[in-house]
Amino acid sequence: MLDHSSVSSALAEHYDLSPSVDLAEQMRETYQRMARVVPPPDWARHAPYVAAIERLKRERGAVILAHNYMTPEIYHGIADFVGDSLQLAIKATEVEAEVIVQCGVHFMAETAKILNPDKTVLIPDRDAGCSLAESITAEGVAQMRASYPGAPVVSYVNTTAEVKAASDICCTSANALQIVEAMVADTVIMTPDMYLAQNVAKQSSKRVVYWPGSCIVHELYSAEDIHAYRENDPDLAVIAHPECTPEVVAEADFTGSTREIFAWVNRHRPGRAMLVTECSMASNIADELPEVEFAKPCNICPYMKKITLEKVLWSLHSMTGQVEVAPETAADARRAVQRMIDISQRQAA
Ligand code: 13P
Ligand code: SF4
Repeated sequence: MLDHSSVSSALAEHYDLSPSVDLAEQMRETYQRMARVVPPPDWARHAPYVAAIERLKRERGAVILAHNYMTPEIYHGIADFVGDSLQLAIKATEVEAEVIVQCGVHFMAETAKILNPDKTVLIPDRDAGCSLAESITAEGVAQMRASYPGAPVVSYVNTTAEVKAASDICCTSANALQIVEAMVADTVIMTPDMYLAQNVAKQSSKRVVYWPGSCIVHELYSAEDIHAYRENDPDLAVIAHPECTPEVVAEADFTGSTREIFAWVNRHRPGRAMLVTECSMASNIADELPEVEFAKPCNICPYMKKITLEKVLWSLHSMTGQVEVAPETAADARRAVQRMIDISQRQAA
C-alpha cells in the first residue's frame, strides 16, 4: 500500500475530491441516514468520495459488505450490505458480484474469500487486524488439542484462515452458545476469546476450556464503571457485547452480537442507552432511533478505524488489497465456517 500522501495525489489525478456543498446537497437522501452524527461540513468532505466509490462499484461490478463498526459515512454512504460477523459470512455465500470489498477487518475479508475462492475480495487496508485473531496460531490450536484429547475445537470467526482450518467448527458472538451445545462431547475447547468462552460456559451444559485471548476494545470496560454510570442514571439501559468480561455482562440488561444489540435497542427504545461496545455502533443506529439518547463513553477499535473512504476508493481504483488464501487451507477453513452456517441456519428455520 502506498503511503497516505501518495494515495491522495494518485487519486487527485483521476477524481475531483475537493469538499463540495453542491454534491452534498445533491446527495441529501444519503445524508439523511447519518445527519444526527455527521455534521454538514464533514458530509461536504465525504460526498465526493461516496460519489466516486458508487461510480467505481458499478464499473467494477463490486459489492461492499460492511461491519456494524464502520464509520457512518461508510456504513450509510457506500455499503450494499451491513451486519454482524455472522450476517456478513452468510451474505458472502449469497453475493453474485465478482468483486467483494470488505469494509471490516482482515479476518472478515478472509472469511469472504474462503467462501468465494473464485471471486476477487478486497480489503482496503491489510493492517486492519484484530487482537483476537493475532492471539493464536494453528500451533496454539494443536496445543489445546493435546491438552484436552478428543475435545472439539470451536474457533471464533475472529481468527486467521490457518486457525479456522485447524478447528472443527467456527462460531460468532451471535451463535457461540448454540454451536457449543451442538457439539457431541462433554468438554469443548473455545479459541481464542476467553471472555466469550467464560460467558458461554455460564449458560452451557458443557465444560468449556479456552485459549487466553481477548479483545482490546471490550476488555477495557469494567463492571465498576458501569455500576457507577447506573448509580448516576438509574434509567440507563446497559447493553453489552459478549467479548466483555463476565462481570460486565452481569451488569448489563442485555448481551448480544452487534446485530442483536441493534435489535434489542430497536425493540425496547430506552430513553437513554449505553452500548458497551465499539463507538460506531451507537453512531450507526442513532438516526434510525431519534428518541434514544446514547450515553458515552465508548471505546474505539483502532483496527476497524483503519478503513476509510479514501482507502476504499483507492482499493477499488487500483484493485489492490486482494486477499489470497492457500487452496488447501481455504478448503479446511471453509468446512469449519460452512458447518457453523449450516447449524445456525438449521436452528433458525
Ligand atoms: P459481531 O459478530 O457481534 O459483529 O462482533 C464482531 C467483532 O469483532 C466484535 O468486536
Ligand atoms: Fe477485534 Fe475487538 Fe476490534 Fe472486534 S473490536 S475487530 S474483536 S479488536
